[in-house]
Amino acid sequence: MSDHNNNDRPREDPGRTTLRRALIAVAIAAGLVAIGAGLYASGIYAPIAQSPDREPDEGRELAEAAAERREAWLAERQEYTNNADANPPALPVSEEGYFIPNDVADAPDNAFGDSVRRGYEVFTNTQTNASEHVGNGMNCANCHLGGGTVPGSAPMWAAAVEYPAFRGKNKMINTMEDRINGCFTYSMNAQGSPSGSPPPRDGDIYKDLQSFFYYMAEGAPLEGNLPGRGYSTPPKPEQGYSISRGETVFENNCAVCHGTDGGGRQDPNGRWIFPALWGDDAFNWGAGMHRINTAAGFIKHNMPLGQGGSLTDQQAWDVAAYINSWERPADPRQFRDNLSVAETDEQFHEHTPNWYGDVIRGDLLGDGVPGEPTEQPPSAGAPRHRDQASR
Ligand code: HEC
Ligand code: HEC
Repeated sequence: MSDHNNNDRPREDPGRTTLRRALIAVAIAAGLVAIGAGLYASGIYAPIAQSPDREPDEGRELAEAAAERREAWLAERQEYTNNADANPPALPVSEEGYFIPNDVADAPDNAFGDSVRRGYEVFTNTQTNASEHVGNGMNCANCHLGGGTVPGSAPMWAAAVEYPAFRGKNKMINTMEDRINGCFTYSMNAQGSPSGSPPPRDGDIYKDLQSFFYYMAEGAPLEGNLPGRGYSTPPKPEQGYSISRGETVFENNCAVCHGTDGGGRQDPNGRWIFPALWGDDAFNWGAGMHRINTAAGFIKHNMPLGQGGSLTDQQAWDVAAYINSWERPADPRQFRDNLSVAETDEQFHEHTPNWYGDVIRGDLLGDGVPGEPTEQPPSAGAPRHRDQASR
């Protein structure tokens, strides 16, 4: 981390101070314009338009067509329920061939619908609605775009029908609750949260998230492996991946929103506008996104925001290698099992492309962000309360 030490700057006369203030004001204004332009280009204001080359109007038409198709499917299903001789309803799919999930806005007006809506709120605003268990600046929907609906962004309607399933990561059958627990542990860095751990088992957070996923998946076949599931990594390019090429891609396409230091951006109230990619507020070394292949898949389909699909496979791999070559919160399995970085590397990081345990820019990656207490398990000391005021 660079240390800007301004203590020994000579005193300046008032005229120069005024000039400097004016220059800073101009710089801030220019920065705000850049952010505004980025936001506009990102289509963040047109939540329905999910594809780069799509006009917002076209997005709305597609969404309306999708809603109609789903309604027709529901009618067919009702008929089939009443009369076994009727044609069985086909899967409701969009023009692009993706499953059309139920819209949360249509969730029923009863206890289950309330749970669906709460689950949606946890998913899209995890910072507020599960704050006791979040130890970074992330919301679930930061990596599962469109509130967990967008194909190619690991949508939750595709995940809902896949669990219980065996996972190589922990070599056992995982229920959806286990899967969510894992996301809190790694992607949300629960070890740094006020409670120091993921939500307690069997609690409402799991129930509500599962209600939300299940409701979206209504009508999807079990074990469907539906098109659009996961992030589908593009093939590794012939030239492999390179941190230095990735740095150029990052500066040209990503820094405007995520910041040149990868630290993301918060508004004056501390709400995250652009999530962090590395450092204190990012996913930790145990998260799926630290793998270069997984990040390349996410980036290829979804970034720059609103322009998914615009980078080449080479650029996606290179920039994934770059963002994952910086320090981030430690892998919690290191403390759980009382391991060194080298041992953690060997046990958990050997079979995927990643930089964990490598020395890059003179820094051993994996020993945690600067200032983090890495000598003892986080649960053994006081929990790391995040000091919003100091940001
Ligand atoms: C930093 C990015 C990130 C965040 C934040 C994140 N996830 Fe994920 N999530 C991933 C990645 C990456 C995968 C896929 C992992 C893989 O390929 O093994 C994934 C996979 C999943 C899956 C399984 C998908 C499937 O099709 O099998 C579920 C369910 C899930 N996440 C839920 C959540 C929930 C709930 C939260 C919030 C508590 C969350 N995620 C936060 C990155 C993230
Ligand atoms: C226009 C602004 C913008 C640009 C440009 C942009 N992003 Fe993002 N990025 C976002 C936002 C906003 C999210 C969270 C999306 C959400 O919550 O719906 C995000 C999410 C992410 C995530 C997952 C969340 C996290 O913090 O780990 C990654 C990784 C990422 N971006 C990488 C990139 C890369 C690499 C580039 C350049 C190729 C890029 N982004 C360009 C705005 C942007």
